[in-house]
Amino acid sequence: MKPPEIVVESGFTAEALHGQEVALIGYGNQGRAHALNLRESGIALRVAGRPNSEARRRAARDGFATLDTAKAIPGADLVIVALPDEVHAEAWRRDIAPVIQPGQTVGFIHGSSVHFGLVPVPAGIGVVLVAPKGPGTTLRERFTMGQGIPALLAVHQERAASHGGPSSRELARAWAAGIGCARAGVVHTTFGDEAETDLFGEQAVLCGGMLGLAQAAFETLVEAGYPPLLAYTECIHEIKQVADLLYARGPAAMRAAISNTAEFGAYSAAPRMVDERTKAAMRALLAEIRSGAFTRGMQADHDAGAPWFRAERAKADAHPMEDAGAAVRALMPWLAEEAARGAAQGDSKAEAKP
Ligand SMILES: NC(=O)c1ccc[n+]([C@@H]2O[C@H](COP(=O)([O-])OP(=O)(O)OC[C@H]3O[C@@H](n4cnc5c(N)ncnc54)[C@H](OP(=O)(O)O)[C@@H]3O)[C@@H](O)[C@H]2O)c1
Repeated sequence: MKPPEIVVESGFTAEALHGQEVALIGYGNQGRAHALNLRESGIALRVAGRPNSEARRRAARDGFATLDTAKAIPGADLVIVALPDEVHAEAWRRDIAPVIQPGQTVGFIHGSSVHFGLVPVPAGIGVVLVAPKGPGTTLRERFTMGQGIPALLAVHQERAASHGGPSSRELARAWAAGIGCARAGVVHTTFGDEAETDLFGEQAVLCGGMLGLAQAAFETLVEAGYPPLLAYTECIHEIKQVADLLYARGPAAMRAAISNTAEFGAYSAAPRMVDERTKAAMRALLAEIRSGAFTRGMQADHDAGAPWFRAERAKADAHPMEDAGAAVRALMPWLAEEAARGAAQGDSKAEAKP
């Protein structure tokens, strides 16, 4: 099947947002990076959060005007929702829907809640998406280096034009430029394609498949009598070296940079590790994502107080590979300093349990 044409643009500016009002709800991993980058691009914004929010206090310490969410929205041309996805529905119902008006535009950083109908935005209110392809700390770090990371951009619906000013699409383009993504490339897509491919990538590979495979490999070595420290180093710790090569150079150049032994073994092992059953499981995962069953299931668990999510997290945190990993990292004390720097920049949601 021929892949659909896509439009990628770069090099444009955030000018359409100059003189516009921006309200940003949430000041976590993505929110803080968006806020700091937009401010340094000359865009005035206010940060909104719940009254006793630690994140909101942090935004105030960073010099932003902070308000209750419902008070931040009136008059804002663009309202950016930088909240966890499972919170979008309640935030929309409780704080946003009662005050947002036709002519305003609401912006998301991931498309699931809109695409799967958890956030029903009435006609007249613009709905856009700017999804940077990386965590907030990377978005911020590249921006401060004068660079940027790519982002996906989509328009679910245009705002009513009655109030004049930039269209929702123009606001989204300026938002993407203001956070530095137009220095790399902005890919025009749809909420559906962004939501479904993003969920699939993180489940099948990045956060689900890869760690599942690494954990099974760690267990295989430990059960065969090898020291956990060795098992962790070989199966988990060294993922970074390979991931860095893939990130910077791609698969062929990654293979050129590893030993012939590693490359030879990879060709023989890959089809045995990942076979037609794995592909069938991936297709089943994708079907669940596309039907909305995954998003509805996650929302139902969240609405019930996240019992399944909490139990799985506790089980995962208690796995013996955590102790082995701590022992490996203790050999490199600078990693703890880097982790502390990352946490100071808000890259960890360890305190923000569901
Ligand atoms: N993290 C990433 O790397 C990444 C990458 C791409 C896209 N995204 C997308 O970016 C969006 C934000 O994700 P994130 O990871 O940045 O979120 P996050 O760090 O978990 O968001 C934390 C923010 O949400 C607030 N918050 C949490 N629960 C709340 C509730 N029940 N009511 C009101 N406010 C609440 C927190 O304030 P309090 O202090 O009040 O808890 C804080 O301001 C999501 O749509 C996500 O899919 C994230």
